[in-house]
Amino acid sequence: MKQSILEMLRSGEYVSGEKISRKLGISRAAVWKHIKALREEGYDISSSTNRGYCLTAPPDKITEYEIKTGLKTSVMGQNVKYVRSTDSTNNEAKRHCDEPDGTLFTAETQTGGKGRLGRAWTSPEGGGIWMSLLLKPLIPPSRAPEITLIAGLAVCRALEEFGAQIKWPNDVVINGKKVCGILTEMSAEMERVNYIICGMGINVNISEFPGEIADKATSLRIETGKSYARAPIIRRVTEEFEPLYGEYLKNRLKNIIAGYERLCVNIGRRVSVLYDSGAVTGTAVGIAEDGRLIVDIGGENRIYVSSGEVSVRGVYGYV
Ligand code: BTN
Repeated sequence: MKQSILEMLRSGEYVSGEKISRKLGISRAAVWKHIKALREEGYDISSSTNRGYCLTAPPDKITEYEIKTGLKTSVMGQNVKYVRSTDSTNNEAKRHCDEPDGTLFTAETQTGGKGRLGRAWTSPEGGGIWMSLLLKPLIPPSRAPEITLIAGLAVCRALEEFGAQIKWPNDVVINGKKVCGILTEMSAEMERVNYIICGMGINVNISEFPGEIADKATSLRIETGKSYARAPIIRRVTEEFEPLYGEYLKNRLKNIIAGYERLCVNIGRRVSVLYDSGAVTGTAVGIAEDGRLIVDIGGENRIYVSSGEVSVRGVYGYV
């Protein structure tokens, strides 16, 4: 019902309470109740005694309705679970792991956003896209890390107009600074995956980062000086993800890798591979068919680096 009311208000013109109640077959009191609920969700709806209701500002909302309106996928994001605040959308997905394959979890803010390697991920209200896809592929657990590559490529393509590139394995960067991080988590048995949660954090409207990360992190707003509605970006990411995931399920990672390699900022650059036992330096020369980074360490020697094992840093900076 709330969605039908929003559709009526979308023109930006005033619509009388009477017209809404007639069209939707509900009482004026019920209309008022739904308007109140929409305002609580953050919609800016003004009311005037004679003219009715009007949606004053185009909303930057990431509710189910905003995401699904115009979403061109058949599975991914067709079920959306939105909450205003949660500890982490990855945790939210875990708690609702009985939801169907492709369910998308979003939140305005995360109070305990999680990054890779146990780090925290800052997720201010409205500042970015904090989303997780719940996936139920019939694959062995060993293939799960490949999903992260796909997600990196999907985000990178969705942010193509901003000149996004991928820092292997799955950071998306603009002008050498990180705009998106991806955290993939899994529940599995020895032979098969129960579910995978692919969490993506995209810095959209954040206007500055604290000193210690300011030289490494960026947002679309910092890069362009403009703010962006988040729902269209979520749709783009989801629409880019779906066909890549389809290829992946058909064991055609090889086709994906070619596209990935083209957007990978590390290729041709000096990198430092940070193992527990120490760092190895070389030149990144390509991505193997299974997604490992190929690093030329001199003397015709190459190492194949798996994403789970290590961190890779640029020798001269973050990339
Ligand atoms: C990283 O680069 O360290 C990964 C960051 C992943 C952040 C996203 S935001 C949505 C999802 N929920 C989380 O708690 N983490 C991921």
